[in-house]
Amino acid sequence: MTKSFYLTTPIYYVNDAPHIGHAYTTVAGDVLTRWHRQKGESVWFLTGTDEHGQKVMRTAEENNTVPQLWVDRLVRDAWKPNWDALNIANDDFIRTTEERHTVRVQKFLQSLKDSGHIYEGKYEGPYCVGCEEFKLPGDLIEIDGQKCCPTHSKPIELVNENNWFFKLSGFSQRLLEHYRANPDACAPESARNEVIAFLESGVSDLSISRSTFDWGIPVPWDTNQVVYVWFDALLNYATAVGLTDTPDSEGGKKFASTWPADVHLVGKDILRFHAVIWPAMLIAAGIEVPKKVFAHGWLLVGGEKMSKSKLTGIAPKDITDHFGIDAFRYYFLRAIPFGSDGSFSWEDMSARYTSELANDFGNLVSRSAAMIEKYCDGRLPAVSHDVALEAELVKAVAQADSAICALDFQGGILAIMEFCKTVNGYVTEKEPWILAKDPANESALNEILYNTAESLRALAVLLNPLMPSTCEILWDSLGAQTVLGDLSAQKIDDVARWGQLPQGVTVTKVASLFPRLEDNV
Ligand code: MSP
Repeated sequence: MTKSFYLTTPIYYVNDAPHIGHAYTTVAGDVLTRWHRQKGESVWFLTGTDEHGQKVMRTAEENNTVPQLWVDRLVRDAWKPNWDALNIANDDFIRTTEERHTVRVQKFLQSLKDSGHIYEGKYEGPYCVGCEEFKLPGDLIEIDGQKCCPTHSKPIELVNENNWFFKLSGFSQRLLEHYRANPDACAPESARNEVIAFLESGVSDLSISRSTFDWGIPVPWDTNQVVYVWFDALLNYATAVGLTDTPDSEGGKKFASTWPADVHLVGKDILRFHAVIWPAMLIAAGIEVPKKVFAHGWLLVGGEKMSKSKLTGIAPKDITDHFGIDAFRYYFLRAIPFGSDGSFSWEDMSARYTSELANDFGNLVSRSAAMIEKYCDGRLPAVSHDVALEAELVKAVAQADSAICALDFQGGILAIMEFCKTVNGYVTEKEPWILAKDPANESALNEILYNTAESLRALAVLLNPLMPSTCEILWDSLGAQTVLGDLSAQKIDDVARWGQLPQGVTVTKVASLFPRLEDNV
C-alpha cells in the first residue's frame, strides 16, 4: 500500500469567523499539498474545526444559544464557505463534535488508562480560556494589578478541580532524544530550539479532563468529566484517518496509508501542544510520531498578533474583494518568510500586486497572446528552442521544488518569478514587434513567440499550486487543455521538458489576469 503525503492544518476554534491569520496556515497547506499532487504523489490534506471547550461554550452563551447550534451555524455559514472561496482543496474536514471523532477519542483514552498512563489527581492553578491552556505562574504578565495571559492580555482564571492526569513528565527524555536525533522533526530551527529548551527545563504531568462544565467529550470511565479540549483536539489528526479502528476495516486501512502525518502545520503559539503533548500521547499509545511539526510566524497588526479578540482581525474577504483570490494566496507566502512574523500592509500588497503580478506576470501573458494572435493568426508557430531560456527553466524548477518541499514558500515563489522576469527580459531584448515589420524576419519572430508561449506553459504549471484559477485561464489561453490535458495533471518533474506545446495550437487573448487596482475597487 502506498503511503500518502499527509498534511494537516490546526483545527480552528469556532468561537468566531475566520480571519487572515487562519487563512495564512490553510493556504500554505493547500499550496504544499497541490505541489505534492503535481509531483505525482498520493496526498491527503486535512483541515477542520475545534468545537469543544470553554471558549466556544461561552461564546455560544453570550450569543444566547447552545454550543452545538452555534458551531453548526458557524461551520456552515462561515468556515466551510471561506475555504471554498479561497479555493482550498482539502480532502477531508473534521469537526470534533462528529461521532467518528468522539468515539475514537474515547477508545484512545480508555486504552491509555488501561495501560497505566492516566491517574486521578487535583489541579490547582491558572488557566487561560483564550488559549484553553493551563499556565505556569511564570508564564503570566501583570496588567492593572491582574495576572494576565501574555497572548490574550486578559486575566487568567484560577482552576481548582479533581481531574484525570496524563503522565506527560515520563516522556521528556524520549522526546529530547527524538528531536536531537531527527533535526527535521520540528522546524524551523528556532522552533526546534524552543522545544528542546522547554523539554530540558522539565515537563509536568497534564490535567486532561475538566469537571466544571460539560461541553466536551465525556471521559468514558467517569462521565462527570469531559476531556480537556486540547487532548480532544490533537487527536483529530489521527481520528480523521481511522485511529483505533481494526487493521482490516476501512478506517484501519486508511490509517495504515496515511499515518504518520508528514507535516503538521501550526502557528508558533501552539507549537508546544504539537511538539510535546501530542507526540507523548502517541508514544504512550505505541503509535508512530508525526514526521514534522512546522511552526510558522504570526501576521501582525500594530506589532501584535492579529486576532479577533483584540479586534484586529481582518476577514479574508476584505482583501480578496479588492485584490482577488489568487493575489491573496500569492501575497502572504511571497512576502513573509515562512517561520517568521510579518506585518500586513495594504501598501506593500498593492505594490507587489502591481509590480510582480500585474506587470511581470499578467503583462507577459497578455502581450504574448496578443502577438501570437496578431502575427500568427492565433496559431502557435513550430517548436523551437532557446538554450539559455531552457537552462533557466531547469534551474528554476530545481530551486522551486527543493524550496517548496522544505516549506520555504518564499524561496520557491522567488525562483519561479525570477524565471518569469527572465522571459520578460528575453521578449524585451528580442523585440518581436520590430521584427514583425519585415516579413524576412518571419522565422526569427516565430521562434521568439514559440519560446515565450512554451515558457508560459511552464509558468502555468509551476504557479498552479499557488494561483490555480489564474493559471487555469492561462492554460486555456495557450490552448494547452486540448493537447496536454488538465493543468493539475501536469507534473513538476516533467515541466522543464521543452517543446510540449505542439505547432498549430490555438492561442487566444484573455482579459487581464491581474486588472489594474483602480478598475477593481
Ligand atoms: N483550536 C486550536 C488548534 C487545535 S489544533 C489541534 C487553535 N485554534 S485557533 O483558531 O486559535 O488558531 C488556529 C491557528 O491559527 C493557529 O495555528 C494559530 O497560530 C493561527 N493563527 C491565529 N492567529 C494568527 C495570526 N495572527 N497569524 C498567523 N497565524 C495565526 O489554536
